[in-house]
Amino acid sequence: MSKIHILDKSVSNRIAAGEVVEKPASVVKELVENSIDAGASKISIEIKNGGIKKICIQDDGCGIEKDDVINAFMPHATSKIETADDLDKIFTLGFRGEALASIASVSQVEMVTKTEDAEIGTGIKINGGEFGKLYCIGANKGTQITVNNLFYNTPVRRKFLRKEKTEEGEITSLVEKLILSNPNIRFKYIVDDKIKYNTTASSTLDDIYAIYGKEIAENVIPVNEAKEDYVLKGYIGRPEISKPNRSYQTLIINGRIVRSAFVSNVIQEVYENFLMKNKYPLYVLSLTLPPESLDVNVHPSKLEVKFENLAFIHRLFSGAVYSALMEQDLTRKATTLDDEFKELKKEDVVFYELPKDEGVSFKEQDTPIGELPREISLSSVEAFEKVEPKKIDLKSSESDLTNMMLGMKSVHQESFKEAVSKAEIKGVIFKTYILAEKDDSLYIIDQHAAHERKIYEEYKERLEKGENVSQALLSPYGFSVNAYEFDFISSHIDA
Ligand SMILES: Nc1ncnc2c1ncn2[C@@H]1O[C@H](COP(=O)(O)OP(=O)(O)OP(=O)(O)O)[C@@H](O)[C@H]1O
Ligand SMILES: [Mg+2]
Repeated sequence: MSKIHILDKSVSNRIAAGEVVEKPASVVKELVENSIDAGASKISIEIKNGGIKKICIQDDGCGIEKDDVINAFMPHATSKIETADDLDKIFTLGFRGEALASIASVSQVEMVTKTEDAEIGTGIKINGGEFGKLYCIGANKGTQITVNNLFYNTPVRRKFLRKEKTEEGEITSLVEKLILSNPNIRFKYIVDDKIKYNTTASSTLDDIYAIYGKEIAENVIPVNEAKEDYVLKGYIGRPEISKPNRSYQTLIINGRIVRSAFVSNVIQEVYENFLMKNKYPLYVLSLTLPPESLDVNVHPSKLEVKFENLAFIHRLFSGAVYSALMEQDLTRKATTLDDEFKELKKEDVVFYELPKDEGVSFKEQDTPIGELPREISLSSVEAFEKVEPKKIDLKSSESDLTNMMLGMKSVHQESFKEAVSKAEIKGVIFKTYILAEKDDSLYIIDQHAAHERKIYEEYKERLEKGENVSQALLSPYGFSVNAYEFDFISSHIDA
């Protein structure tokens, strides 16, 4: 008796489903991508209990004809490609003809669909791959698919599901990326009966605002680059809104959300000089390129792509991101004083000169700046206020001062500290900046920052000694997080 046999359809479908439908978020991804391929302008996504109990996607796309409804759930059944050649130029998000068959084999699905021409809609229920009868039902143009009790018939897969909140967080991250990658589609996202997003379909920037909030939307830089048949568009975050993880990075290639360590690293390289360690830039970038230069058939999840010309992609991304960053004034604090000079009328600028006998200097010559005693810096201001002001002709000194400040920026932190601790204070301007002289250098010290630094050092020292230095805030401080961070924080809330 032969030992090798062809598996029953229901078994092979379930095996295939293991690849496509790994978790609730994969169901949402497949169904929403189908809606996008169907030309929808509105898509509603509803989930319950992290998508495990229910996922319902509704669209106003082209719908499926009655005669095709059962076909849609057959393995390898697709309307999107026909021949092997079509695999080399894929214009749609789906092409494998596997998603619906896979989903229907591991859950309880109900579909209602209607095309423009049909007089009435068609419905069908499928339980774990078992088809019910087609029925007629009143419906609007479009398709609604409800997926109940995911993995109810695959106990092992169900056991490996994570907490509902974690699955929900992952779906939310995905939905956010779907919104960002489809600025022309209106999305409604409902979680456990609460509306989380209801977008307007106006622009990527509006979507960034809706998802990441005002502060981020105000701190992104547009990217626009076209080379040959490649067009790269979107937004990158200013370095100061960079994040401690890569979850704020969205890459869209030919309309498809993809993961690419390569692109992420290329962009990271460009940011290198602007970022602190372990910080990752935020970006929402969309690249369109000729479909034949891209292989999307890499993995069943369709999340990975292979580029034909890696060197070109490298140049394109690094060039675009670099020039976008360079067009921006990325210096923040360092130019503040300079800006103030520009705004002031030159005649209004007054320098205070410190009389020799009332001279304020650091208690000990080698006290580092971090330990600048607060009393001295405050009383020094008062001391200077009593002093007769002496005007200095700014016209001749302004450019020197600017040069000195620019020079200062390049001074290494430690050597700056050391130099400043030995410098002699010459005066205070704008009641804010201490001017100090050493050798042929002028140092400008922000008193307020120096004070903060002093407090910081004190806390640090106490922390190092193991003292508890936390203190409840007088009024609560709210900050926004994304779905990924929400999940992380909620699961470590005790700590
Ligand atoms: N929301 C929808 N609106 C209209 N037609 C749909 C919708 N969802 C699915 N279909 C039809 O059902 C077919 C099968 O869908 P399915 O997701 O299984 O495969 P696919 O999208 O062609 O490929 P893939 O497996 O890569 O997603 C599609 O080719 C499409 O014709
Ligand atoms: Mg599909």
